Order: sequence, then structure tokens, then C-alpha cells
Amino acid sequence: MEAYGKSLNLRSIRVAVIGTGYGGVELIRLLTLHPGVSTVDVYSYSKGGESLPFVYSHLYGVTDKNVETYAPAHFDERYDLVFLATPHGVSKTIAAELFPKGLTIIDLSGDFRLKRGHVYEAWYGKQAAPSDLLEEAVYGLPEFKREAIKGARLIANPGCYATAAILGAAPLLLSRLIHPEGLIFDGKSGVSGAGRTPALGVHFSEVNESVSAYKVARHQHTPEIEQMLSAVSGEPVTIVFTPHLVPMTRGILMTIYGRLKKDVTDEDMEMAYTAAYREAPFVRLRRAGDHPTTKNTSGTNWADIAYSLDRRTGTVVVTVALDNLLKGAAGQAVQNMNVRMGWDESLGLPRWPVYP
Ligand SMILES: NC(=O)c1ccc[n+]([C@@H]2O[C@H](COP(=O)([O-])OP(=O)(O)OC[C@H]3O[C@@H](n4cnc5c(N)ncnc54)[C@H](OP(=O)(O)O)[C@@H]3O)[C@@H](O)[C@H]2O)c1
Repeated sequence: MEAYGKSLNLRSIRVAVIGTGYGGVELIRLLTLHPGVSTVDVYSYSKGGESLPFVYSHLYGVTDKNVETYAPAHFDERYDLVFLATPHGVSKTIAAELFPKGLTIIDLSGDFRLKRGHVYEAWYGKQAAPSDLLEEAVYGLPEFKREAIKGARLIANPGCYATAAILGAAPLLLSRLIHPEGLIFDGKSGVSGAGRTPALGVHFSEVNESVSAYKVARHQHTPEIEQMLSAVSGEPVTIVFTPHLVPMTRGILMTIYGRLKKDVTDEDMEMAYTAAYREAPFVRLRRAGDHPTTKNTSGTNWADIAYSLDRRTGTVVVTVALDNLLKGAAGQAVQNMNVRMGWDESLGLPRWPVYP
């Protein structure tokens, strides 16, 4: 896995990916092709000693990289940056082992997203990470936390649903175009959002030709969305969020319903989004009423946003589409790495969707 970063005069860095699920394999792809990365090593709990093509047969003839068994001792001065593509509950243990070694960590799980440990414990049903690590952690949504990410050593990559929800709603709260009360988020996800680990709920015959709501009123991304929207709006925001599983492989479509403050115009809406995303290389604002599909973003780091004003009911309906494994996970993690390293934020990240 050789770097071609030198031709761009980048300082090449050595990275490790821990975890070989869907998030991990997307990270390996993006990082292997990234011009600023010279080494990508892969660690696992269960696949140590196997070659990557054995774990993922689409990689035959592409790489012969071996997966190593995770052990903290491997991480003494070998890497500049480590990505944790591990489940919540596991990431906090690894972070506690690696953070004292001076490594910069980008975690894809929910373990470091919530600032208050008791909120994590209420929604995740697990013990929270140590409070000193929670204090260190910066929420890795570059569109709103770019400056903090630049100096962070522990970056909590946002959840896939949460990314879509916050990108769609935050500009309208910031510009005071909608009320902070009564916000409704209706999320739909492809099945890869549940990861590669087999389970009855993602079995083909359970999911195919069927759509279902799940974790109604108790999905763990709810407090993460509320935490960020409260921070940007400067007042407490409580939301209703209902996730749905749809029979497709990739993609998230988030539909947001907000109660308009009086006399909001299309011009107000466009100004709110344009002001928020003037310097955001991966947010695409579409024409009013031209709502995105998940396919519009597939295989890319784009988040696509459109809105319609429903004056009859005093509601704005916003839709946000993104690829859950890219802008919702591995792509955003690489975007965070770029910000952290002081590189162009879009370096090594795909913009050209796979279509149809
Ligand atoms: N899928 C998405 O769309 C998405 C989006 C945003 C965030 N995330 C988050 O990203 C992280 C990785 O997600 P994923 O989709 O890659 O999940 P996944 O496909 O299920 O992979 C998780 C990996 O974690 C490793 N692992 C280590 N300890 C484990 C344990 N005790 N139980 C199960 N797995 C263990 C396993 O890899 P080894 O066997 O190699 O150790 C496993 O392959 C999760 O925290 C997830 O919530 C996922």
C-alpha cells in the first residue's frame, strides 16, 4: 500500500484501522487510495492472521494485505493516527489503551459522542467511557466543529442518522427560521447501517420487500442530535426521531419536519443554508423542491439537502440524503483526518456517485 502523497508535498502519515466490518473495509479502501497516507495496517479481534481477500473476496488481486490481531503493544510509536471501526462498548476500551500512547484516535462508534456519561448510559445501556476521555473528545462533524477538530486527539465520528439530521436542521435553528420545539426526524436506512455481523433483523427474507420502523422513541442517535442542535441553537432542543429499515444496501434518507416561524421566504431558507455551508465541500444544496435520492450520493461523501415550504400547515419539510458508509461513517472519518492534519478537507474522498 504505497503512498503517492510525496508528489503533492504532503507529509505522509501511518494509520491503523481496528475492526474489519463494513465501516472498517470502507476505511481501508479510502485510506489506501489517500495521497497523504503511507501505511494502512489492519487489526482485528477475530480475523488476525487472515489475508484481506480472505475476509472480503472483492479484494482478490487488489491487495494481499494481512490482518493482524489487535494488541495494544503494536501501537507503540508505529502510527500517527488510529481509526476505531468497532462497536460501542468496545471502542472505549481500545481508546483507553491507545490514547495514553499519544496517538490521535478517530472513533466511528457512539462511545465518545455524548458529553455526559449518564446520558450515554441511559441510551446505550452500557457504562460510559472514562470522564477524562469524554472531556477530550470532539464531536467530528466538520461543518460545525472544524476548528475544534484541528486540535483534537480524540474525535468522535458522528452517527449516520445524526449526520443527516444535524446537517438538515442546524442551519434553520441557527437562522431562527423554525421553532426549536416540535422537530420531527423520520430516518430511513439501508441494511448495511446495521454492519456486517449477521442477525435475524437483517436476514434477507426478513428485510426484502418490507419496510419497518425500529427502536421507536429509543434510538441511540436521538441524544446526539439533541446535543448538537441545542448547542447550535443556544436553547434546549428535544426531538422525535423514528428510524426505518428499508430493503436496500446503502444510503440514508432523513425527512425533517420543522414548524416555521411566520413569514419565512425561500430567500430566507436559501440564505440560512448558504451561510452555514459556504465552506463545506461535501454539502450539496439542491433547488427548493428538488429532493435528493439516496442513489444521488451512493459511493460518495456528499450530503444532499433540499427543502419545501408547506405554507398551508406552517411546516418546512427538509430531506437529506447521504451514503451511510461514507458521509455517515468512513468518509466523514477521513474528512476528519484531513481537517486534523491541516490538509484539504476533500483530499482522497469520492465525489462522483456510482449510478444507477
Ligand atoms: N454501518 C454503518 O453504516 C455505520 C455508520 C456509522 C457508524 N457506524 C459505527 O461504526 C462502527 C463499526 O460499524 P460496522 O458497520 O463496521 O459494524 P460491523 O460490520 O458489525 O463491524 C464491527 C467490527 O468490530 C469488530 N469487533 C470487535 N469487537 C467486537 C465485538 N465484541 N463484537 C462485535 N464486533 C466486534 C469486528 O471486527 P473484527 O472481527 O475484525 O474484530 C467487527 O467486524 C460501529 O460502532 C457502528 O455503530 C456504522
